[in-house]
Amino acid sequence: MVKYSKATQRELFEQSKQFLKGAKVLVADLEALRNVIVYHEWRYSVLNEPMISDFEYDQLYQMLKDLEAENPLLVTADSPTQRVSSDLGSDFPPVAHLTPMLSLDNSYNAEDLNDFDQRIKKLVMMDTDEAIEYCVEPKFDGGSIALVYEKDFLIRGATRGNGVKGEEMTRNAKAMRSIPMKANFSAYDIEKVELRGEALIRKDIFEKLNKDRMEAEQSVFANPRNAATGVLRVKDPKEVQTRGIEAFIYQLGYGVNAAGENRLGQFETHDEGIKFLEKLGFKVPVKERKLCKNIREVIDFCLYWQEQRENYPYEIDGMVVKVNRLDLQERCGYTSHHPRWAIAFKFKAKQATTKLINIEYQVGKIGSITPVAKLDPVQLAGVTVSSVSLHNEEFIRSKDIRIGDTVLVERAGDVIPYIVKTMEELRDGSEEVLVFPTHCPSCQTKLVKPEKEAAWRCTNPHCEAQVLQRMFHHVSKDAMNIDGFGQAYVERFFELGWVKNLADIYRLDYDKIANLEGFGAKSAANLKKAVDQAKQNPLHRFLYSLSIHHLGKKVSKLLAAEVSHVMELKDWSEEDFTIIKDVGPVVAENVMAFFADEKHLELLQEIESLGVNVKQTEADRPKTIAADAPLIGKTILFTGSLQQMSRKEAQTKAESAGAKNISAVSSNLNILVAGEKAGSKLKKAQALGTVQVLTEEEFLALIQ
Ligand code: IVH
Repeated sequence: MVKYSKATQRELFEQSKQFLKGAKVLVADLEALRNVIVYHEWRYSVLNEPMISDFEYDQLYQMLKDLEAENPLLVTADSPTQRVSSDLGSDFPPVAHLTPMLSLDNSYNAEDLNDFDQRIKKLVMMDTDEAIEYCVEPKFDGGSIALVYEKDFLIRGATRGNGVKGEEMTRNAKAMRSIPMKANFSAYDIEKVELRGEALIRKDIFEKLNKDRMEAEQSVFANPRNAATGVLRVKDPKEVQTRGIEAFIYQLGYGVNAAGENRLGQFETHDEGIKFLEKLGFKVPVKERKLCKNIREVIDFCLYWQEQRENYPYEIDGMVVKVNRLDLQERCGYTSHHPRWAIAFKFKAKQATTKLINIEYQVGKIGSITPVAKLDPVQLAGVTVSSVSLHNEEFIRSKDIRIGDTVLVERAGDVIPYIVKTMEELRDGSEEVLVFPTHCPSCQTKLVKPEKEAAWRCTNPHCEAQVLQRMFHHVSKDAMNIDGFGQAYVERFFELGWVKNLADIYRLDYDKIANLEGFGAKSAANLKKAVDQAKQNPLHRFLYSLSIHHLGKKVSKLLAAEVSHVMELKDWSEEDFTIIKDVGPVVAENVMAFFADEKHLELLQEIESLGVNVKQTEADRPKTIAADAPLIGKTILFTGSLQQMSRKEAQTKAESAGAKNISAVSSNLNILVAGEKAGSKLKKAQALGTVQVLTEEEFLALIQ
């Protein structure tokens, strides 16, 4: 039995969106707001399937808090503000924490942090121009745990539960190798102690775990947090180990001697307490923890980690800022919900739900039709997202995405936003199942789907939409690299009718351009200069710029090395192509089809007559490597971070010295160059025993 019916869920969801739209909430809304919050708490902590972002939840929670603060008589005992959120289930016996595990107050920007700093100064009665020292550490996004040690032994592990009581899971805690079974607290006259921390799974281990589960046809976890929190309550502690769960400790919650006297007072600061735990063998945040002299440093550090979060091996959803001095912490005190001396700085949300309004179709440069979802604009990790690619028909069918659906969108780091899933439970029946077009939206040619390909394609090479895309590609950085000639210019000149095909790019009238709005003599001259420069490009760039299906940069280079003039390719047979290593029959077929089209040959002649280089240049000729080059015939791999050159540079150097770069450690590998912080690849190479391991310096000396 589910707690909420579909219809109720839909209603609650609609209501939350209404509240989030920012209209003023009234006393009359109080109950509805509470219901909405309780619902989202259930989605988050019982189902592990949140429907709104943490940020949105926090906004709702704050609205309720504000409204209740204005109307204290209307606060009910069961209001979400009257408890800390619960993860209580029934399988594991409840145990009371030695002191309550509170939540944290939240902040989202520099202004909030400055306000926090001001509040602290007031609380400790400090002058506003004096600085408070803060300890800042990651806000780990896993499952919170509390560990009790008595007479140095780990006697109890528990989940956070509702903050007052948690679920006992000692056997699972003991299975985590990062949690010491015994630690020397007695040396500090501590008889009984409670530590707070977070159970986590490293992101790369999580990926592998899901891959293994997929292969074993088991259900996969939606994210690392679910994998970690789920495991705290598994019945078999071995699972804890096979899933590779670790625990970071971030707080000393309670500590007394045999007489029951508080012993945490022997530490002056939070930082000292953490260093103490580190010394006893606990896993604590080290490099990612910083003592900040003032709030300015706190803000910089938080913003730095907001940028770096993707590079951190564990999921973190923010940073936690703590007043460092324990005597000051005590002066600040607690609310029933959170300590006043700490605050979470929440990173910008990576996931959000929004409505899929429509599906449009884009025609690619070789005619593939890509469905694109148009979304009700939504904020994700600091940018507004209003459309995402749906890749192809199969993607839409497999996720059962319908027009009018509410969808969960994610944008992680620099990754392009994508749809994680559709919220089936929010459908009201008005959603439309997609009818994929049968004809090209641009030229109306009937679409075809070649076998083994995922995309439907428009096969008319002269389709206007395709030509436009090919022009975008032609001027782009990887192709002809015409500096400053972006998509916007192509579109503008296309609309004006000045560029209808690739050749037109080389016969633009710069006087006319100079007179266009937003241009001028200078920018027109710059554009001319860039176009003239591109005319001298090597042949391989030109080949790549033609948008021939499957003809990538690498094969373009291989072909350019074999012909003295582009037109020679017109007479090539399939065998001429496939005799070249790394050139397959598919590329061969596509290049041959391109050169069999009269219109294409005319276009190439036109382009050549406009002064564009279509002949082999020095840069196209294969570099000959001397037979006595130092690394001739060797395979090489670079790992870790290099100090004196980029990895790309190193690989080029290795290639010119006769080596071949490969990407994995295996018995085929001859040389491994290990930079700083080299990890698993180095270990594997050492284990093989057949690989020559070099430092960066040794490598440079070798190729000199
Ligand atoms: S300190 C009394 N520090 O965030 C101190 N909490 O909303 C209160 N969390 O579920 C907590 N990383 O498990 C603290 N470095 C960190 C944390 C952290 C993650 C979690 C904690 C709790 C939630 C608080």
